[in-house]
Amino acid sequence: MPTSVLTKGAAVTFPIDTVRDAFPALREGAAHFDAPGGTLMPTSVAEAVRDTMVSATCQRGTNTPAERRTDAIVLGARQAIADLLGVDAGGVVFGRSMTQLTFDFARTLAQGWGPGDEVVVSRLDHDANIRPWVYAAARVGATVRWAEFDTATGELTADDIEQQLSDRTRLVAVTAASNLIGTRPAIREIAERVHARGAFLYVDGVHNTPHAFVDVPEMGADFYACSPYKFCGPHHGVLVASPELLGTLAPEKLLPSANTVPERFELGTLPWELLAGTTTAVEFLASFGEPAATRREQLRSAMAALGAHEDALRGTLEAGLAAHQRVTVYSRAQVRTPTLLFTVDGIESPEVSARLAAPPAGSARPPGNWPGGAWCCGWCRCAGQSP
Ligand SMILES: Cc1ncc(COP(=O)(O)O)c(C=O)c1O
Repeated sequence: MPTSVLTKGAAVTFPIDTVRDAFPALREGAAHFDAPGGTLMPTSVAEAVRDTMVSATCQRGTNTPAERRTDAIVLGARQAIADLLGVDAGGVVFGRSMTQLTFDFARTLAQGWGPGDEVVVSRLDHDANIRPWVYAAARVGATVRWAEFDTATGELTADDIEQQLSDRTRLVAVTAASNLIGTRPAIREIAERVHARGAFLYVDGVHNTPHAFVDVPEMGADFYACSPYKFCGPHHGVLVASPELLGTLAPEKLLPSANTVPERFELGTLPWELLAGTTTAVEFLASFGEPAATRREQLRSAMAALGAHEDALRGTLEAGLAAHQRVTVYSRAQVRTPTLLFTVDGIESPEVSARLAAPPAGSARPPGNWPGGAWCCGWCRCAGQSP
C-alpha cells in the first residue's frame, strides 16, 4: 500500500511495499536504526556487484572487451558520483573508505605545512575527519586548533570556526552533518570565512550525502569525502575536488601507476565491482525523483522527496521519545538530519541498546512478527502500531 507523507503542504508518495521489496535484508523482520553502520543494500546494487564479478574485467584500456568494460565501469562510476554531488567527473577519486582517503589526503596536503601553520578540526566531527589531521600536523610541527560546538543547542556555527582561524590557518576540517546528533553546520558560510583566510576547507560528507541534495561547488568545499555504503551502495570511499586543484597535489604513489588526475590518488587496483554497485546505487536513489532530462535533475527531486519523508519519520520518532519522561534527546540543532542521540535516565546506553534489540521479556513473539503483518521493535509494547 502506498505511504503518503504530507510535508509543507506538498504530498510525497512512496510505493512503500515496492521500496521494501527492493531490500531483501528487511525480510529478517527487523527495522534498522543504525545509520552509522550503513544502509541496507537493494537487490539491484548487489546484482551489479555480482554481475561485474562474474564478467571479464582486467586493467582499464581500449584493446580488449574486458579492458573496455573495466574502463566503462570506472568512468560510469565517476559520472554517477559527479551527478550525485554536482561536480566534475574528472575530480572524483575512489578509495577504500572515507577514513583511508582522508589519511592519504592529510599526508599529501601537509607536505606544504610547517611549524607555525595551523589546522582547525571540530569537536562535532567523526574521528575520521580529526585524527588524520592531528597526525599530519604533528609530523610537520603544525598546530591543531579545536572548534567547539554548543552542547546545549547542538550548533556548530561559522563564528565557532572563525574563532579558531588565523592568517596561519592552512586547512579547516569540518563535517557537513554529525552522525552523532545530526547537526548540519552552515558549510557555505564556513567556506566563505575559511577562504577569506586563504585556507582549504575539507568537508566530511559521509553522514550528509544520504540526507540531502548535495552541491559541492555551491557548498564551497574544496574537498568533500563520502561513503557509498551510507547511500545504499557498497563499502568503499569517495573524495571529490576540482581537477585543477587535484592537479596541484603530489601524493606518494608507485612509479608505474598513472600520474593523471584523478588516477594518481588511487593507489593500486580499484574494486571494479564496487564501483559498478555505486553507479547502480545512484540510479536507485534517482529512481525516487520526477522524470527529468538529466540524472542530476532527477536526483534533485529524489533527494527532496526522500528528505521530506525522513523529516516526517523523524517527527514520529521525536514525538515517541518525548512521551517518555526518562528520555533526554540531544539532537537539537535547527538544521539537522533525522538522526537522534538520546539517553534514558537510570539506564546505561549499552543496556538501552541491548533492550531495543531484544524481544520483550516473556514474549514468544519475535520482533517484526505481529498479527496483520504490522511491524514493531518488540520492546516498546506498541502492539504493532509503530510506523
Ligand atoms: C560522519 C562520518 N564520517 C566518517 C565516517 C567514516 O567513514 P568510512 O567508514 O568510509 O571510513 C563515518 C562512518 O560511520 C561517519 O559516520
